[in-house]
Amino acid sequence: MRMVDLIEKKKHGLELNEEEIHDIIQGYVADKIPDYQMSAFMMAIYFQGMTEKETAILTNEMMHSGDTMDLSAIQGIKVDKHSTGGVGDKTSLAVGPMVAACGAPVAKMSGRGLGHTGGTLDKLESIPGLSVYLSEEDFIKQVNEIKLAIIGQTKKLDPADAKMYALRDVTGTVDSIPLIASSIMSKKLAAGADAILLDVKYGDGAFMKNVEDARKLAKTMIAIGDHLGRDTRATISNMNQPLGNAIGNSLEVKEAIATLKGEGPRDFTELCFEAGETMLLMTKMAATREEAHQKLEAVIQDGSALAVLAKMVEAQGGDASYIMHPEKFPKTKEVITVTSLESGYIEDLEALNLGLVSMKLGGGRAKMDDQIDHAVGLVLKKKVGDHVEAGEPLLDVHTNTGLSEELKADILSAYHIVDHEVAIPQLIEEILE
Ligand code: URA
Repeated sequence: MRMVDLIEKKKHGLELNEEEIHDIIQGYVADKIPDYQMSAFMMAIYFQGMTEKETAILTNEMMHSGDTMDLSAIQGIKVDKHSTGGVGDKTSLAVGPMVAACGAPVAKMSGRGLGHTGGTLDKLESIPGLSVYLSEEDFIKQVNEIKLAIIGQTKKLDPADAKMYALRDVTGTVDSIPLIASSIMSKKLAAGADAILLDVKYGDGAFMKNVEDARKLAKTMIAIGDHLGRDTRATISNMNQPLGNAIGNSLEVKEAIATLKGEGPRDFTELCFEAGETMLLMTKMAATREEAHQKLEAVIQDGSALAVLAKMVEAQGGDASYIMHPEKFPKTKEVITVTSLESGYIEDLEALNLGLVSMKLGGGRAKMDDQIDHAVGLVLKKKVGDHVEAGEPLLDVHTNTGLSEELKADILSAYHIVDHEVAIPQLIEEILE
């Protein structure tokens, strides 16, 4: 069938079959289908959606559009974790070492940040010397030896997604559940882990703005994982305010290190434990959530989780002394404290806008090839539910380029202050297993 006929078919809400979806993905990767037709096709998906079967077929075709990793040489049940993206989300940097220190092999492929969301690879690269590009052989060797490796995906892994995502970014087709689900799951499946934990975020700082859509996305991805024989589970968590207190690359690494010492912020620590418990259950390293929790507590108390992070940094060519002495991370020229103009309780803290402020300070990218400044960012002093007096610090801005009146106004307007008490919001909405 001609591509135009397949676009028509989807436009009218009809179900595409395996052969049709195969031809579209193969044709697009081979440059036989032009971007304008693929854009129209994805816009038709955006409006008409896809059935569970179509989404699973699309994912399978994308996954097989390039190389797939064979991790069978790693002993044990290999687990990967993926967050749908948010502000201040440094979970992998803490939960990876925690779970690995308990003996579970963590073979993780991560991405880079774009727009208001940060990326684990950029955070890791704030550690001098560290490389996120390992050969498949070295990746497998490292996971066998120290139980943890966090790397970037190669260009040969899931080329269909790389092309489709770049096109979606400029054609208003990012926020479609079948397209997000197939994009994330095709990469995770190609990366080869046996078990996949998804942290699906909802709220102002996430792709999914409400909990219902996040649940729908999580269920779609779990169905794809089940269909293709991988144990896939999901956490639905709140991204209406930043996670933890630090936003910005080396600032977030430092917060992950503090968390591995048992000194992290309450919300971030809660998410790391919850994710870690699920990962230990999936890898059969614990039989119950209580047992998993105790194991995770133990590796924080005895320092072994922090030691695994240091070993991973060293194995990937980085300077591990930064992990034991985080005061070594380069500091910005200035740290400017922004204080509250009014007294009251913080009702809302716009994650999206604070993520954008960090990006504009140089901590993130507006375009995929922008350079980033690893030292800049924000450290929150007040979060939702806290009381603040006029003149009290709201946050510190770590900057190498000062703080313009415009950015200061953006920060102040991200804090919504009211005169009545506000409950601390629930971070974890649901665990889907
Ligand atoms: N992350 C991805 O990898 N793909 C999407 O479509 C959205 C978030």
